[in-house]
Amino acid sequence: MTKILAIETSCDETACAVVEDGYQILSNVVSSQINVHTLYGGVVPEVASRIHVENISAVIQEAVVSAGVSMDDIDAIAYTQGPGLIGSLHVGVQAAKTLAWQFHKPLVPVHHLTGHIYANRFVSELEFPLMALVVSGGHTELVWMKNDWDFKVIGTTRDDAIGEAYDKVARVLGLGYPGGPVMDRIAKEGKPHYKLPVPKTSSQYDFSFSGLKTAVLQMTEREKKAGNEVIPADVAYAFQETALGSMTDKTVAAVREYQPKMLVLAGGVAANSRLRALITEKMEKVPGTRLIIPPMYCCTDNAAMIGAAGYVAYRHGCFGTMDAAADPALEMPGEI
Ligand code: KG4
Ligand code: ZN
Repeated sequence: MTKILAIETSCDETACAVVEDGYQILSNVVSSQINVHTLYGGVVPEVASRIHVENISAVIQEAVVSAGVSMDDIDAIAYTQGPGLIGSLHVGVQAAKTLAWQFHKPLVPVHHLTGHIYANRFVSELEFPLMALVVSGGHTELVWMKNDWDFKVIGTTRDDAIGEAYDKVARVLGLGYPGGPVMDRIAKEGKPHYKLPVPKTSSQYDFSFSGLKTAVLQMTEREKKAGNEVIPADVAYAFQETALGSMTDKTVAAVREYQPKMLVLAGGVAANSRLRALITEKMEKVPGTRLIIPPMYCCTDNAAMIGAAGYVAYRHGCFGTMDAAADPALEMPGEI
């Protein structure tokens, strides 16, 4: 049995977890800062790092205590090295190094997106080759994994990430931060009233959401000028159908070409109910590829997923050193 203590502080969640053998969660503590950032309409990096500093010790202690383990039982300390906000990442890196030094444990640096992908191990053993659709506030990527711990990005966003687009459209509609969950909820009541342009990219598996976001802004301004009431639920509906429709079409096309054994969803936007329904519906028509959707509790940022990926990195001998630093633009392993 390998027990990994994992730390995640890449954005606005201070999180620590203890995970056994990469799939058994012994504890998973997430302290969210959303209440504070909501006041500013988005994450304020300087504020985020200060709150991480205030909370990190208590979060680590709670994760160890509620897992029912002592530091002697821990085999390695995994932490998110990047990508993310530099100040936020730095707090987690320093905490991990301190624990590794004090308790003589190996360090395992983890790429945040590998964490989102390996969160699917809480649902099922992963089978390779595998395709992952990683959709979060900072990323929209199609990742091809021929083997375990082998990553190749075959599609990415040309501009905004899908979660970022959700948050920006929500801001236009005055729905607050983070926008994704509210848009998801109100779109259920929405009607097909507005029409938005389908995003186009020159490369088959790349994504683009910035044009769509601008189209929403222009459309709402046009409606207001014409004296028409803008109906947020209908705008959310139109945005979702357009963005998720084209994103899932591209994903299914990639699955048909690459023929993986599994397609996994990953990242905060994987919590979206319409995305979950749409991809399930489309994948039913694709024989030979099993669809895995992560549980709601591990879609948005958490440390259990870093423990899941950290375990695989540990098994592959990917250890860090005491002079490692946070890397806000870290590339996925194998992409350098
Ligand atoms: O993975 P995550 O927690 O943080 C990053 O790594 O970025 O993802 C956060 C993003 C935010 O943009 C948030 O609006 C979006 O995930 N999100 C959603 C939903 N829940 C969270 N987007 C759409 N529908 C949701 N239900
Ligand atoms: Zn994330």
